[in-house]
Amino acid sequence: MTKRGTEDLALFGGPPAFLRNRRVGRPNQGDRERFWERMNRALDNEWLSNMGPLHDEFEERVAQLAGVRHCVSLCNATVGLQLLVADLVPGAEPGDEVIVPALTFPATAHAVRWLGLRPVVCDVDPVTGLIDPDQVEARIGPRVRAILGVHLWGQPCDVRRLEKIAESHGLRLYFDAAPALGCTHESTPIGGFGDAEVFSFHATKVVNSFEGGAIVTDDDALAERARKARNFGIGAGGRVEQLGTNGKLNEACAAMGLTSLDALADTVAHNRANYEAYLSALDGIPGVRAVRYDPRHRNNHHYMMVTVDERAAGLHRDALLDLLRAENILAQPYFSQAIHRMWQYGEESAASVPGGFPHAETLCEQLLALPTGPGVSTADIEVISEVVRAAVAHGPEVTARRAGLAGTTGDAHPAGAAGE
Ligand SMILES: Cc1ncc(COP(=O)(O)O)c(C=O)c1O
Repeated sequence: MTKRGTEDLALFGGPPAFLRNRRVGRPNQGDRERFWERMNRALDNEWLSNMGPLHDEFEERVAQLAGVRHCVSLCNATVGLQLLVADLVPGAEPGDEVIVPALTFPATAHAVRWLGLRPVVCDVDPVTGLIDPDQVEARIGPRVRAILGVHLWGQPCDVRRLEKIAESHGLRLYFDAAPALGCTHESTPIGGFGDAEVFSFHATKVVNSFEGGAIVTDDDALAERARKARNFGIGAGGRVEQLGTNGKLNEACAAMGLTSLDALADTVAHNRANYEAYLSALDGIPGVRAVRYDPRHRNNHHYMMVTVDERAAGLHRDALLDLLRAENILAQPYFSQAIHRMWQYGEESAASVPGGFPHAETLCEQLLALPTGPGVSTADIEVISEVVRAAVAHGPEVTARRAGLAGTTGDAHPAGAAGE
């Protein structure tokens, strides 16, 4: 039904726009028959973990897609980030530092802190949300050992400038490429930049292996260390040669990863059509700006991001979020808590950057991920955009009426989306 007045909106008693949820991060599972075939093979082989044939095939295919010599698959991306930071530690002292952007998922900073190093937060570009190389340079001090950039929503960081900065200061350069499988910087696939990059195959990512991740790199020695590190430090000869953990990807996860990977080209094509549909359907809505991906690079379009400027839209992002959710449009506020607003990172960051991180702050107040993926059609996008348009048309009234309702939407994060 057309949403004309606030009484048509589900939050205020109208019928919801959808009976079945439209979600962010619905798992891209691929062909279920293929998945069960692979699972049966694993069960018949009685080889369920410890670098089985499905695991090896998955690694080969990810390495090929990323254009790198090595893919070291893992149980998740967070372990991958931890292994990269751990790789610094033999030369690093507790309290040494790694530069991270203020706008990212907590795993980026936590991986640094988990290993006893200090994340040094820096601000981001106000439009793309990507780590700002000028801010990186400004934050380099005597204890900084590495830069950890994040390819937010599959957009590539300014890899060339970051490579120069890292080289001139003798720093390691890593990329958290959790959302960026299948994306490029210009025509070069993400995966081969810096010393190493880390993909996530979490259930909500563009390729899903239930849980999973990978370190990808062209550095033979780093890959060798990472392979041992994910398997208790055990080397090819079966003896423990270094410190390690259990970070292996099992065969069931590899079976899902391969099946999801089979569908990647179709998934990205669908996402891209959705992105184009959103750009035109949202056009001209005051205060609602779609994040446009730089056409010089290829994006997997797994995330359809908009910003909601309260002054121009007449309502806050969180009001729009509540309103959409009542319509069964499960948008997500990614990211609504900047790193320096988490736990003790604020105390650490405020001490060295009194001016704060204004661009990350603004984006955290304004960002909204809208549903996309193969489960969302262009017809759905018309309906979703119509709800956004109706909300903004009645922004002040929506704000006032919502204030009278009990309970507002809480914060959510990518990992939460899979369960919704
Ligand atoms: C930027 C970023 N880094 C790291 C992670 C963690 O990935 P995983 O869940 O595979 O550990 C995520 C997950 O959403 C992420 O978005």
